[in-house]
Amino acid sequence: MSAINAKLQEITTEKSGVTRLTLTDFRNYEKLRINAKIAPIVITGANGSGKTNILEAISFLTPGRGLRSAKLSDIKRIRETENAIDMACEGWSVAADILRGNEEHKIGTALQKVNKAETSEYFNTGDDMRVYERRIIQINGQKVNQQAELGKYISAIWVTPQMDRLFLGGPQPRRSFLDRLVYAFDIEHAKRTANFEHLYRQWFQMLKNGLADKYWLQSVEAEMAALGVAIAAARRELIARLNTFILHEPDDVFPDVRLELDGLIEKMLDSESALTTEDFYVEHLAKQRSFVRQNESVDGINRTDFKVFYKKKNMPAELCSTGEQKALLVSIILAQTKCQILDKGFAPILLLDEVTTHLDDIKRDALLEKIRQLNLQAWITSTEAQNFSLLQNDAQFLQVDNGKIIF
Ligand SMILES: Nc1ncnc2c1ncn2[C@@H]1O[C@H](COP(=O)(O)OP(=O)(O)OP(=O)(O)O)[C@@H](O)[C@H]1O
Ligand SMILES: [Mg+2]
Repeated sequence: MSAINAKLQEITTEKSGVTRLTLTDFRNYEKLRINAKIAPIVITGANGSGKTNILEAISFLTPGRGLRSAKLSDIKRIRETENAIDMACEGWSVAADILRGNEEHKIGTALQKVNKAETSEYFNTGDDMRVYERRIIQINGQKVNQQAELGKYISAIWVTPQMDRLFLGGPQPRRSFLDRLVYAFDIEHAKRTANFEHLYRQWFQMLKNGLADKYWLQSVEAEMAALGVAIAAARRELIARLNTFILHEPDDVFPDVRLELDGLIEKMLDSESALTTEDFYVEHLAKQRSFVRQNESVDGINRTDFKVFYKKKNMPAELCSTGEQKALLVSIILAQTKCQILDKGFAPILLLDEVTTHLDDIKRDALLEKIRQLNLQAWITSTEAQNFSLLQNDAQFLQVDNGKIIF
């Protein structure tokens, strides 16, 4: 056993994961309670039974909009009815007990209706009929305002069937994937990317509508540039960390990957200091104001792409076969998981939705064996229970049918 593997095993004996999960009116679950082991958890069931919904619920315990990037109101359970009118429930919730070594935490998140008249902002408007919805988060009984706070207690990495096309389409899903990997090491990254996106949208709209004044633009651009350089630097650090790990600890089954960042600001940081890059970014944004007015897109950290190569073949991922692309994705996830364990002392929760699709038998079994050895909690869905005999003695098996666990 390599020194790294021995260290990984030692650290992962500090168990981390979800020990109890409760869903209420969440998609096709009216009420679901699961007592979970810190082990592989294999969820099987027919198409449409509710396997992915369980993984999605767990993903809501981390910052962001979950593994489907869903609209929060779409998650409210739609009651089965003959009636054509909208029978969606009023809200939904996910509650979990989390174990982290010797610590236990309670996390809850819910979509709640808020009456605008009840909030000070809308007080005295006299319009008490208007209601809006918002997601609330509680950690150990305390309401928290920043989603990024969740990152202090729980971290999850997911692979979904949509990600089978991660290397093929436009850069946005790759960029979000990359940013999620960064959050795991640096929860400030979640706050910075959310702030940058918010400012960028405001800046873009104000310019487009011709409403922005010079001083407002200067101040927003300065803020965007400072956030942007910090975001670019954190992305560079993550890529370097994974590349170095893969160089020193190549996997014996999954192909080595080489990761590259392709972004204006990230590239500039190759040769320039953060301060020089920030000054350049401020000027660059000011120069691009006219692009917005002409409805053209603006270059910067919002356009960064992330390139993946099959190292031995020096082949860009998008030119690799479907199974090879899946294997490259698994390589990245395994490297990230191990880096997180080594760096943070705790394993992330893996949410693996139909992860074995496109993998040949050797790779499928190798992946399950690696998950088993890592001693972590991995929620794995499949329509085929027989693929998991290798985990027979280690995994918890759950079978779902139409929004209920049947055993
Ligand atoms: N808001 C909602 N209310 C009620 N049911 C919903 C809601 N959103 C989705 N569903 C239903 O939940 C069911 C289970 O979905 P899920 O994606 O979890 O299935 P699955 O078991 O992963 O299936 P597959 O094997 O096809 O991936 C689906 O039939 C879906 O239509
Ligand atoms: Mg599914």
